[in-house]
Amino acid sequence: MPVVISTETDTPFSCVRLYRAAQRLLRYCGLKDQELSILLVDDRRIAQINSQWLNRTGPTNVISFPQAGQGLVGDIVISVETARREAAESGTTWAVRLVELLVHGLVHLLGEDHELGEEAARRMRKREQELISYLLTEDIMADLLINVDHIATIRQARGGEEPDPVVAAGIVELAGADGIVVHLREDRRHIQDRDVRILREVVKGRFTLEMAATDEMIGIAGEIQPDIVTLVPEKRQELTTEGGLDVLRLEESVTDAVSRLHGHGIPVSLFVDPEEEQVQAAARTGAECIEIHTGRYADAEDVDSEEQEFQAIARMAGIAVDLGLRVHAGHGLNYRNTSRVAAISEISEFSIGHAIIARAALVGLDQAVREMLRLVKGM
Ligand code: PXP
Repeated sequence: MPVVISTETDTPFSCVRLYRAAQRLLRYCGLKDQELSILLVDDRRIAQINSQWLNRTGPTNVISFPQAGQGLVGDIVISVETARREAAESGTTWAVRLVELLVHGLVHLLGEDHELGEEAARRMRKREQELISYLLTEDIMADLLINVDHIATIRQARGGEEPDPVVAAGIVELAGADGIVVHLREDRRHIQDRDVRILREVVKGRFTLEMAATDEMIGIAGEIQPDIVTLVPEKRQELTTEGGLDVLRLEESVTDAVSRLHGHGIPVSLFVDPEEEQVQAAARTGAECIEIHTGRYADAEDVDSEEQEFQAIARMAGIAVDLGLRVHAGHGLNYRNTSRVAAISEISEFSIGHAIIARAALVGLDQAVREMLRLVKGM
């Protein structure tokens, strides 16, 4: 990964925001393949570094060390203690101040230096403002959309009316999720047509319809008008979606489905395994977005294969963004494995279902959603 964050002090906050901000800045500055190291320290340690390397006394907020070596942008040392004090003084949050200091440090690494006179200070401020404005063009953190299929699974177990995924969707949105996902399966094993119709009316955030690329489903999507359709492969025998859509093999029919959905005015995402040829094929279909299947990462049986799958997801997310695609991710994500993928800045949305609904059975839906939001949003 191009950004490495190390801490030498207590950081009672998640570093996910800082991580994503740093990755986005490197991409914006054309340095996405270079390594940036960020060290978080306390005042005592930054004072020591200040004295040892810059011959200055006392703590400061941020110090940058450019690196001449190939593939390295440099090191940025930030005092989280000073950042917290400055945040309180300026009425911003700790997280925002840390990002501002990251920008300041990075602009130094890019060669600007406000200490070289008024003109240099003005140039540096301008560059900082440019980078901050860029970061503000899109939320730094990913969105969390919650799949409520398994509320319907419980309802269907008795064939009655309870629990209602429509009520669940309301609770999920009140807890702060960015939207709702449902998978209308050909066999209607959980979500029913009535659910999809009512959810389209009541969901306040984004509403994603997952479906197979069949004539029936394309017709339903055209009527319902979800905010986006995610095309998934579907087998009657499977317990859940087992693999990504084989866009490479089915390129012609997927391209046709994408264009029919576009004809209904609906943007399309393709659920694909983290494999380059699938991502390249997805881009050729005209779809706006891919959802990277995180199942192999989630189900990895040892740390080495988990690492390998994580790297594949991170690499594919980068390739997809370079191809002009938006990137979503999901499947099998839970309270243990989500933080790591949430730090991949190219992923703008997560779709998570089973783990949240399973936890909700024990702690309540509101709490289960809020706990996952903390992992995804780094709050
Ligand atoms: N994304 C897609 C395309 C899916 O098919 C599913 C499962 O319905 C999910 C995300 C959510 O997976 P999980 O329920 O394992 O969180």
